[in-house]
Amino acid sequence: MALSALMDRIGRELMFTFEPERAHQLSLMALKSGLLPQPDIPDDPRLSLSLGGLTFPNPVGLAAGFDKNAEVPDAVLKLGFGFTEAGTITPRAQTGNPRPRIFRLVEDQGVINRLGFNNDGHEAALMRLRNRNKQSGIVGINVGANKDSEDFVADYEAGIAAFHELASYFTANISSPNTPGLRDLQAAEALRVLLDRVFEKQAECEIQNHRKVPVFLKIAPDLQEKEMDEIATVVNGSELAGLVVSNTTLGRENLLDQKTAGEAGGLSGKPLFQKSTIALAKMRQRIKPEIALIGVGGIFSTEDVVDKLEAGASLVQLYTGMVYGGPSLPSRLLKGLSRHMDANNLQSIAHISGTKTEEWAGRPF
Ligand SMILES: Cc1cc2nc3c(=O)[nH]c(=O)nc-3n(C[C@H](O)[C@H](O)[C@H](O)COP(=O)(O)O)c2cc1C
Repeated sequence: MALSALMDRIGRELMFTFEPERAHQLSLMALKSGLLPQPDIPDDPRLSLSLGGLTFPNPVGLAAGFDKNAEVPDAVLKLGFGFTEAGTITPRAQTGNPRPRIFRLVEDQGVINRLGFNNDGHEAALMRLRNRNKQSGIVGINVGANKDSEDFVADYEAGIAAFHELASYFTANISSPNTPGLRDLQAAEALRVLLDRVFEKQAECEIQNHRKVPVFLKIAPDLQEKEMDEIATVVNGSELAGLVVSNTTLGRENLLDQKTAGEAGGLSGKPLFQKSTIALAKMRQRIKPEIALIGVGGIFSTEDVVDKLEAGASLVQLYTGMVYGGPSLPSRLLKGLSRHMDANNLQSIAHISGTKTEEWAGRPF
């Protein structure tokens, strides 16, 4: 076992002695301290790709929810991630649901969370990001709605307006299961209204800030085929640059830890891998090629990254893999990806993307 992987295993044993949310706070502190060993990151130009007007140094990003308040974007990028997504950020700060609200399913290598968009609000995150604005690196902003908002769509517009000057890209998160009513925005008519208003706001901001910011939409893995059809119709008629598939699932199939499985919230990690990858492929079949797919859910290894790409993703993101794999995971994934490209004589990520979409889409959910 490589030294970095061994260090991560020891770190995990230590972290798992803490309650999950406390452990997460400690990992943010460790990242802020700058004391984590710097992983060695392969400099492989074959991993770089352009999408939505951005050049990603590699396709592996940190998913939303880890750095909810944009506290550690640069430390995260130093771990090797090709991009990071801060948020979900809502206009006003909110405390989220009562604790405990994050649960590890260790035997399943999963996590259930019902945080409920706990975050410091637009203003606080904006201040932090303005302070790092001169740094390079792709930092997306994941925007959402306050739980008690009277107009969810207005909250997304406010997110676009607030962060337009500095976001590398936006993700409109309409798929958290922990804000009642939020997932209803995935219904065709509601989604059309949301996207119309988001892109009107984007057009206004574009004139003001002289920059165009690509917008992605993040959806749930718990959709019926008909719902996927409807979403695809709306997405294909929109200016979206990408679709993020997927958020956490409400499903609880095939779990070993039956006791923790009873906790309310969204399930992530290994138990989400199959479902989110099949959903990704099914959406790839429905979405026009100009719109990219970002594959998320249960990535723990290079094989998982390759599977997501083959199913149709251009980029991938992960969160729960970091809980179990530790901070050297991105560097290990990138080295593995380079080896995969060597072994298969591949010159770019585009040569992997979508090569097995039909196969993945044909698997039973
Ligand atoms: C503790 C936790 C908090 C999360 N918070 C958010 C969030 O605020 N916004 C969001 O879009 N996704 C959030 N997610 C979902 C992740 O971004 C990701 O879509 C999901 O966990 C599947 O990926 P994974 O299996 O690699 O974790 C959260 C996930 C976890 C585990």
